[in-house]
Amino acid sequence: MSLTMAIPIHKPVLLSEAVEALQAKPGKRYIDCTLGSGGHASAILEKILPDGQLLGIDADPEAINIAKPRLADYIGSTIIINDNFANLETICRENNFLPVHGILFDLGLSSTQLEISERGFSFQHDGPLDMRFSPAQELTAADIVNNLPEDKLSQIIKTYGEERYSKRIARCIGKSRPISSTLQLASVVEKAIGSRHGKIHPATRTFMALRIAVNRELENLATALKQTVNCLDHRGRLVVISYHSLEDRIAKQFMIRESKGCLCPPDTPVCQCGHMPSLKIISKKAITPSLTEIKLNPRSRSAKLRVAERL
Ligand SMILES: C[S@@+](CC[C@H](N)C(=O)[O-])C[C@H]1O[C@@H](n2cnc3c(N)ncnc32)[C@H](O)[C@@H]1O
Repeated sequence: MSLTMAIPIHKPVLLSEAVEALQAKPGKRYIDCTLGSGGHASAILEKILPDGQLLGIDADPEAINIAKPRLADYIGSTIIINDNFANLETICRENNFLPVHGILFDLGLSSTQLEISERGFSFQHDGPLDMRFSPAQELTAADIVNNLPEDKLSQIIKTYGEERYSKRIARCIGKSRPISSTLQLASVVEKAIGSRHGKIHPATRTFMALRIAVNRELENLATALKQTVNCLDHRGRLVVISYHSLEDRIAKQFMIRESKGCLCPPDTPVCQCGHMPSLKIISKKAITPSLTEIKLNPRSRSAKLRVAERL
């Protein structure tokens, strides 16, 4: 879909579950680290008005341009920042927005970004191999596809895409360089591994892997999570919605680690690390979408929500 056509608005995933998990209440302060089209943000604002405040962050200036008018009714209660959530603590300090009572991450990309062919996220629309959330980032998907040695490319596709045919795909990409468009890449992948691939398109995993690598999604999540404990008030909630097993693992391991005291190896006689627990895990098991939600919004099917509370 091009920019000139109507842009579909992203449907927020696990909306009531996320707002409930945040325990959004009037008069309190919340951060939406992944503002997107503002779906979660407006539901949070509805709960925290008249005197609550929301800080919304998104790396993508186009997402900000969509969210701003959608949140115009809440203008006095909202601060919107175009930045990477890896800078969470600095953003909060610069905006005098500490401590907060809840922080939400709804990771990955929005369906709005996916549908705009010029962004290069989709193997269904022809566009440049871009995939950057922010135009300020230098690295694009084309740089990775055309410049990386085949073994490194294969590693990315295998790790981030959990793609078992990564070597074959990387070899085929290597032979087809230069590749400049999404449809060209999709057809190279299809040639490498065939067109039948269960229910998903053969290029699904490769495209996901490239997007994760371009945007350093796992690194940014780990960096931001570490900062959340310095931003949350006592009993403030951390809520993470992920769509990929590696993202979910990072969120889960972070919550487990922060809920523990000493992290020294078991045979250390006296604690050397001095680590203190800072979180209590609220969701022992990840919360997943209902069948009704999956039917209405198939994109929600891989979502997992985890919640922890600041001690
Ligand atoms: C799934 S969408 C969020 C949708 C949103 N919850 C809604 O209801 O409309 C994820 C958003 O996070 C943004 N994003 C991803 N990684 C980011 C990062 N490291 N820093 C800031 N924003 C990021 C993307 O640009 C995208 O707009």
